[in-house]
Amino acid sequence: MCGIVGYVGNKNAVNSIMSGLKSLEYRGYDSAGIAYYDKEFKIIKAEGKLNNLEKKINGLNSNIGIGHTRWATHGKPTVENAHPHKVGKFTIVHNGIIENYDSLRKLLVSDGYTFKSETDTEVVAALLDKFYSEKADILKVISEARKLLIGSYAFGILCDDYKDSLFALRKDSPLIVGIGENENFIASDVPAILKYTNKYILIDEGEIVEISNKVKIYDEYFNIKEKEILTFDGDLESAEKGGYEHFMLKEIHEEPNVFKNSTIPFLKFGLESLLSRDFSKYTSIDIVGCGSAYHAGLVGKSLIESYGMRVNVYVASEYRYQKLFTNKNSLVILISQSGETADTLACLRKVKEKGIDTLGIVNVVGSSIAREADSTIYIKAGPEISVATTKAYFAQVAILGLLALNIGYSREELSENQLEEILKKYSTFPEIIEQVINYEYSEISNSIYNYETCFFIGRLIDYSLCLEGCLKLKEISYINSIAYPAGELKHGTISLIEDDIPVFAVVTDKTIADKTISNIKEVKARGAKVILIITEDLDDDFDFTDYKIVIPNVNKILNPLLVTIPLQIISYEVAKLRKCDIDKPKNLAKSVTVE
Ligand code: G6P
Repeated sequence: MCGIVGYVGNKNAVNSIMSGLKSLEYRGYDSAGIAYYDKEFKIIKAEGKLNNLEKKINGLNSNIGIGHTRWATHGKPTVENAHPHKVGKFTIVHNGIIENYDSLRKLLVSDGYTFKSETDTEVVAALLDKFYSEKADILKVISEARKLLIGSYAFGILCDDYKDSLFALRKDSPLIVGIGENENFIASDVPAILKYTNKYILIDEGEIVEISNKVKIYDEYFNIKEKEILTFDGDLESAEKGGYEHFMLKEIHEEPNVFKNSTIPFLKFGLESLLSRDFSKYTSIDIVGCGSAYHAGLVGKSLIESYGMRVNVYVASEYRYQKLFTNKNSLVILISQSGETADTLACLRKVKEKGIDTLGIVNVVGSSIAREADSTIYIKAGPEISVATTKAYFAQVAILGLLALNIGYSREELSENQLEEILKKYSTFPEIIEQVINYEYSEISNSIYNYETCFFIGRLIDYSLCLEGCLKLKEISYINSIAYPAGELKHGTISLIEDDIPVFAVVTDKTIADKTISNIKEVKARGAKVILIITEDLDDDFDFTDYKIVIPNVNKILNPLLVTIPLQIISYEVAKLRKCDIDKPKNLAKSVTVE
């Protein structure tokens, strides 16, 4: 996710901004840039890591400036697309996504503006410049421009006519003002200012910030507001985690926002944008991935197959060596958070060589899979730091749900009315995610953390969800957990179910709920401690559960996401009780770029 740092003061802005940007590296980025004053506002940018930028800015001196680390969204991670962007008198940096940038860009082109980058940000710089050329009142110009923007943003703004002031505003993207001795800052997050000050102000939506040798925060009527100055007491590491004890927990708490970011681009522009892909030529789909990405693929299989399209899901390290049964009517979907997993990338290259259509579902913009696949959908989960994935898996499942709807509609298995009925739930769904995140899970976690074996059972999509829950628990707490299709347990290791052995059972698919419930009774009869996760429509006064988590029944596309939350949080809590290194489990890597 992009990082912003701005500085006005009596020291060298370039050094302070650079050090601030380094503290925001944890947010992830693929290019960076800085604007500083030397007779005029000048810009220096570089692709890749901050040391590439650092080499170019040696010896520069300025008392004002803005800097940016860019996590590419609109356009590749190139120097042209890196921030800051300057148009006319305005130099700006931006964190967020302007959803209506395309229509604004067309409007500005008809006014004679030309653009050097593919970004939504440059469009906003041009918009400010256009308004300013009509009426040189900077606060009014910023406020007028804001009214036209749809999306999320935090902006740092420099104007050629104000060489001692820096302006800023935000909506749905973070922004703080840091208050130092004879120096003031804007930043995306507290770590960026901690080397210089621990005093800061939180900026609210609707406000406009002006920092110079003073800090002024204006309300929407341009009156100066009194704001509370807060003091950050923690150290740098706790600041990066945003107050959470671990990145994993922070990332789980980001899921309501991740859902919005990943699905809104498809929903915003109506059905055409959601249904823009034509799947009518395909007769089958292969989904390929590793680890949790493979598990997301299995959930996707159930959702897509419910609309009549055959889907096979493969572990990438197997698929790359097995015989291909694809043909010109097949689509191969490669799922990867990093976009760099060696086995998944090898599968992509293997099927591309045979001329098969490929689609990447990827988080990291500009990664190898994103670049090489015929087309790519970005899941927009933002950088994920914890090795065990949570929010990226969540976003993968959210995107696969939309893909299933697209496929169902193009195969005429889903009418427009049915589709609209499902989509209606999307706008309020982030609140439901939040609600389930805030359930109390600690009693369950406390009751299972000292066991060395744990089972997960479910059928069909519920089994796929169990596989991911099981992996999460296993990889961060080292409990030997085993996921079984509920009906298969009695052909396998039901003998391991003894008194008190924890068994998680997932029941959300009503076509098969009764069968799973019979299997749960079988394990209960052998003494298992049953933790049931069930949708409210299927819930009853069961006498075989030790713990029960009842999740709202939203619809078949969104319910799987809700099951994911308790499984992630309980894994987290159990690992914490077992004093494990949660964000860096032993022997695991975030991105496996070797075979
Ligand atoms: C590693 C990670 C897993 C991840 C898998 C696939 O094993 O620890 O969390 O699911 O790689 O990674 P990818 O980046 O391709 O999604």
